[in-house]
Amino acid sequence: MCGIVGFIGQGNVQEVLISGLEKLEYRGYDSAGIFVIDQANQAHLFKEEGRIAKLKTVVDFELATKVGIGHTRWATHGPAAKHNAHPHQSPSGRFVLVHNGVIENFNQLREEYLNGVTLQSQTDTEIAVAIIEHFAVNEDLSGKEAFKKALSVIEGSYAFGLIDVENPDVMYAAKNKSPLLIGKGQGFNMICSDAMAGIAYTNQYIEIKDKELITLTADQVTIEDFQGQVIDRPAYVAELDASDLEKGTYPYYMIKEIDEQPAVMRRLIQEYQGPNGHFEVEASLTKDLLAADRVYIVACGTSNHAGWVGKSLLEKLVKLPTEVHLSSEFAYQLPLLSEHPFFIFLTQSGETADSRQALVKVNELGYPSLTITNVKGSTLSREASHTLLLHAGPEIAVASTKAYTAQIAVMAVLADALAHEKYGQSSMDMVRELSIVASAMETILADKDKINEWASQNLLATRNAFYIGRLLDYYVAMESALKLKEISYIQTEAFAAGELKHGTIALVEEGTPVIGLITDPSVAAHTRGNIEEVRARGAQTMVISTKVTAKAEDDFVLPSVHANLTPLATVIVTQLIAYFTTLGKGYDVDKPRNLAKSVTVE
Ligand code: M6R
Repeated sequence: MCGIVGFIGQGNVQEVLISGLEKLEYRGYDSAGIFVIDQANQAHLFKEEGRIAKLKTVVDFELATKVGIGHTRWATHGPAAKHNAHPHQSPSGRFVLVHNGVIENFNQLREEYLNGVTLQSQTDTEIAVAIIEHFAVNEDLSGKEAFKKALSVIEGSYAFGLIDVENPDVMYAAKNKSPLLIGKGQGFNMICSDAMAGIAYTNQYIEIKDKELITLTADQVTIEDFQGQVIDRPAYVAELDASDLEKGTYPYYMIKEIDEQPAVMRRLIQEYQGPNGHFEVEASLTKDLLAADRVYIVACGTSNHAGWVGKSLLEKLVKLPTEVHLSSEFAYQLPLLSEHPFFIFLTQSGETADSRQALVKVNELGYPSLTITNVKGSTLSREASHTLLLHAGPEIAVASTKAYTAQIAVMAVLADALAHEKYGQSSMDMVRELSIVASAMETILADKDKINEWASQNLLATRNAFYIGRLLDYYVAMESALKLKEISYIQTEAFAAGELKHGTIALVEEGTPVIGLITDPSVAAHTRGNIEEVRARGAQTMVISTKVTAKAEDDFVLPSVHANLTPLATVIVTQLIAYFTTLGKGYDVDKPRNLAKSVTVE
């Protein structure tokens, strides 16, 4: 979703802003812009609908500048268009604002404070910057005081970067619910939506908490609360390698990230294997989890799908009853909770607004929680009682791949650690099994051509497709369908194979692609029966099986992995199906339409 970069101090501000925005492209956007003030205090605004590459063609990189803010916009209020792109200026041009989030009371603010003011855009952001000017002019406030006053009346989510043209040696920032960080440098300071945007310039970051006012100059950062109390907060080092953010020799991030999965499995083994050979996590986490009578996994999208596999691991290995919930539903209607609940938030980014809202609720109720995330220091990591990291390296492609398998692997790590603590042993050697998974992934990845061929022959012309499976295969089917639909735009649905005949089979026509996942011998015959049913109605089927369930005619037979971990192998094939289908259709694999990587609005 929207990305923010701001910079004040020595350097070519335009270059820093543009390169930072390029690092935030992965979040998803439809227009972009930057605002800079030059050494002679002249203001310059550049914005364009579409890609940053287009913005670059209009930016004057020769200007000698001292401060600037930049933004990538993912449309919420008003369509993607140049006039709706940020930065937005106040009516006189004195204040310039970038914003990530949604201002809920923008209509009311407009009626109350902006009577007679003509606005240039349809955005809530322009209303925010206009009311900052309103307070400065009508209440004779300084730029900083006017900003603070505006923050006191704005309701909703925001990360703001603000420049007051009359005071160009200062930049302001504030946040509520939406992510924003301070980057500290030598002779400059920055703000950015995430550390990737600034990592080429600094690895020192300071978190901003909700409802704080930040004042930045080239040499100083001041954090204060809305009562004016100054807060001293140390910087932390972001462990990001700038080279992780590059595609290298790969044409797309998605295929690079798919290929990285065996390495991620091995890294997780290294990170979590304890001296006794099995997996270990912090004692306080095991204690809190084993004191729980029920676990609630809360997550969105792909992370939610990983949660279903996590549930099966916790129930099978630790006998811990586990429910899986969608964050956006859970936050506003809690299920009937058990007496001693424990909450697990699965979130690659650690910034997803729906999940964060659910965690806020859980924290209000005073229950213990764990965030499993890829981003150290992210909001959900900071606000939960415990954190486990995915160690997957930055995931840039919007379609999540290595984060999904890392989430399942970390749930396996957790289940293994808990089983050892609870029973003194586990029913499976998880370290060994995950290392077998890593090798199996490599074997599958070596078969890309075969998968490409099937996808090219069967999926390029279809409008819809189905994934079916039972038990763990059904959970993978959900993820596989999301992967295919989100990047290839083929309407793809996942069904528990046994449910087809209860309605959905009506949609199967001559040539409809149906991909059956069959890795569990206990239900293999039943799923094969369901495959026959759709074949009889004209479906074009593909069967993905494993050595223990394979039949000679199956399209893809997976290498053997432990029965509890089959999703980690199956999904590699279906990720590749999505990738090759999308390539074949000529779409941008990494940046699908309408989607954002980090969904920071509810
Ligand atoms: O960062 P999160 O894991 O919280 O994100 C949740 C979903 O938005 C995300 O998994 C989304 O469904 C994927 N990008 C889909 O590939």
